[in-house]
Amino acid sequence: MKKLIMAPLRGFTDALFRNVFQKHFQGIGEAVAPFVTSTKGRRIKPSHLRDLAPEENTCLPIVPQILSNDAGEFVRLANTLFDMGYPEINWNLGCPYPMVAKKKRGSGLLAFPERIDRLLDAIMHGCKGHLSIKTRLGRFSTDEMESWIAVFNRYPLMRVIIHPRTGVQMYSGSVNLDAFADCLAKITHPVVYNGDITDVGTFLMVEDRFPEIGEWMLGRGLVGNPFLAEMIQTGDRTIPDARKRFARFHEDLLTGYLARFSGPGHVLDRMKGLWRYFSQGFDDGRRVLKQVRKTRSLESYRQLVRQVCEDL
Ligand SMILES: Cc1cc2nc3c(=O)[nH]c(=O)nc-3n(C[C@H](O)[C@H](O)[C@H](O)COP(=O)(O)O)c2cc1C
Repeated sequence: MKKLIMAPLRGFTDALFRNVFQKHFQGIGEAVAPFVTSTKGRRIKPSHLRDLAPEENTCLPIVPQILSNDAGEFVRLANTLFDMGYPEINWNLGCPYPMVAKKKRGSGLLAFPERIDRLLDAIMHGCKGHLSIKTRLGRFSTDEMESWIAVFNRYPLMRVIIHPRTGVQMYSGSVNLDAFADCLAKITHPVVYNGDITDVGTFLMVEDRFPEIGEWMLGRGLVGNPFLAEMIQTGDRTIPDARKRFARFHEDLLTGYLARFSGPGHVLDRMKGLWRYFSQGFDDGRRVLKQVRKTRSLESYRQLVRQVCEDL
């Protein structure tokens, strides 16, 4: 089995999604949960960590992720999560959103390696368990790589998950595999590759180029095609009964959100958000997405999904 990890997609891959996904699909062995932000003050509200409650996360090994640029806050939150039974915590140094990056959080920290160094020093001293990092190649440029790699190499990190784009690139253009190769040659920690794996062919291409990589993280491509991990594991490019299986997964997810959220409006919004990715699995995805976004009631939404799944 290849080690395939579900990427954190905040607003999408929450505990409910992960559990329903695991019930219906195969091939994923672990998930990094979407980030929780560190907070000031001694007490961490249980509601802040609801999505990481161990009893809600029994289907798949989970690595919680923290977004923070404050060592004290980080350590307090991380140790709370270690006490909840998680053996590894991931630090988000990749988030590209300007609101986050401008505050020197996520990928915003990559331009300040001395700050990362000071933070890692304090975090490593304070944390009770293992730390890994998820990052991009830099915030503004891949020229930043040398500096942050030198810092990362000084600390005993479990692994480093790399999305080979810069922060300012957001999701535009393509992944920079040449820069990633350079990064891989210099970094002393196990590296997880993450980025733009949307089909078996792309996976095989990256695997062939980087045979030393042992773990792969799948994000948008996996939500867009929930069979992707299964296809990578088996090498099969078609899945029998895909339509029926997707429809059953979808129904379970919808039922779960109806029980979780107050009011069908919120549920409809969440499901419409997911269709941005789900629609990519359909030949006429753009039309499907448009139709889904137009639905106004749960009944018309359900009816439409039934109909498009028939056509899959
Ligand atoms: C909507 C959305 C939410 C995301 N949330 C997170 C997050 O909470 N933490 C994180 O480290 N990365 C987050 N990411 C980045 C993904 O985990 C992943 O690194 C990125 O999508 C590239 O991988 P992919 O091409 O396989 O999707 C998010 C990406 C998207 C599109």
